[in-house]
Amino acid sequence: MNHQTVPIPKSPTLLQIAQWIFNPLGYMKKNRTEYGDIFQAYVSWGKTNPLLMLSEPKALQYILTHDTGKEFTAPGEVNRILEPLLGRQNLILLSGNEHQRRRKLVTPPFHGERLKAYGNIIQNITQQVIDQWSTEASINVRETMQKITMRVILQAVFGLHEGERFDRLERLLGQRLDMTGSPLGSLLLFLPFLQKNYGSWSPGDRLQKLAKETDDLLFAEIEERRKNPDPDRIDILSLLLMAEDEEGNGLTDQDLRDELMTLLVAGHETTATALTWALYWIHSLPEVKDKLLAELDSVTDKTDSSQFLKLPYLGAVCNETLRFYPVAMLTFPRQVEQPVELCGYQLEPGMLIMGSIYLIHQREDLYPQPEQFRPERFLERQFSPYEFMPFGGGVRRCVGAALAQYEMKIVLGTMLSQLNLALLNQRPVSPARRGVTLGQSKSVWVKKVGVRSRSKSVAKV
Ligand code: HEM
Repeated sequence: MNHQTVPIPKSPTLLQIAQWIFNPLGYMKKNRTEYGDIFQAYVSWGKTNPLLMLSEPKALQYILTHDTGKEFTAPGEVNRILEPLLGRQNLILLSGNEHQRRRKLVTPPFHGERLKAYGNIIQNITQQVIDQWSTEASINVRETMQKITMRVILQAVFGLHEGERFDRLERLLGQRLDMTGSPLGSLLLFLPFLQKNYGSWSPGDRLQKLAKETDDLLFAEIEERRKNPDPDRIDILSLLLMAEDEEGNGLTDQDLRDELMTLLVAGHETTATALTWALYWIHSLPEVKDKLLAELDSVTDKTDSSQFLKLPYLGAVCNETLRFYPVAMLTFPRQVEQPVELCGYQLEPGMLIMGSIYLIHQREDLYPQPEQFRPERFLERQFSPYEFMPFGGGVRRCVGAALAQYEMKIVLGTMLSQLNLALLNQRPVSPARRGVTLGQSKSVWVKKVGVRSRSKSVAKV
């Protein structure tokens, strides 16, 4: 056995933090080339336990199938960077039994029959948005996709339908997330002292005002729903309001606020980013677009959202989009609980390991010519859940994975089966940090250049 310590990059810590913030993919690629499948990453401010980045699928499979207690855990406290936005009482920040209990509450509405009902909501929302597009208009893809995914979450998670509160929440949350939506804005997350309120000119002041306004709206909704309980409602807020632990205690208003905020933030930006990339790739690569449109033409009833879920090439385009620039570059950290050997190194209790989703998706042995966008690779072979893992794995696997995949297929299917779109600008778009996720370096714009088929009108939601 190799008893060496896991390789440590030689650059000074400050430089590593700067690289991680401003060029995260370059940082990971460079260290993988120099040090191999596992290395120590100095990417956080202050003193923390050693943080490792891992990109070997078998080793990651071992961790993520043993992350419930003895050998590894998935502590929520280490995700503290998200606390100012999400609060403490939510899936991402909770640990151990509390985390398991909360997952039991939150997961069911994202599966099975409930998901099918969301299919129609997603299609109707997409239809409403594209019905407003004129031929002359330039369409900002991210803004459009964000509008769609935000509305999906507000309806599915909150059970909110249009109205003043819905509009204000949509606007405020958009503003709040845009503040950390660029590499520079991400400094607000990575350097917490910048979040302090230094006066009306400071970003901290603006952050606090936006947070207060958003919280007021969330608490008002919670209060109203507590006063008027309706057992027939099936949205996630209604289910959380009815939930009780073994002693009969329900969730507090603060718990509910934190969980709603988490689902909103984790659920809408990520999916909007993935949809923006998908539309970009489809319109940058004519052979991909031609194949996809031919497949969409084979759908007989385009008002039936479930038809889009069965299309193999559309599925492959979505997968390749999630592989190429994974919105979540890393899994959340898992903590080593007892000495273990991994990739030939001895790991000690307390060490934190993050799976590098990006580096796994870039492996030549799994994805030949990984820098080429080629959906066919997903039709030619099957990948294990640890070789293709845009949604992580183990006890913290993304609860919204099925919803996000549904959204991608239905939004793209609904849009592209009806409209002919073209990019306004052919210049390549590069990836760039967007808070803790990976987004686009600049806006992607499209215009409507024709109508392919008219939809029958869909029910108003
Ligand atoms: C393309 C879209 C999305 C991507 C790429 C994505 C990716 C991820 C990843 C990688 C994780 C961490 C998994 C791990 O550590 O093993 C995660 C966790 C999570 N995701 Fe997603 N996600 C997406 C959409 C959504 C949606 C739509 C929702 C909900 C509405 C959601 C809610 C969550 C939550 C609550 C967690 C934390 C789970 C826990 O700690 O138990 N995500 N997601």
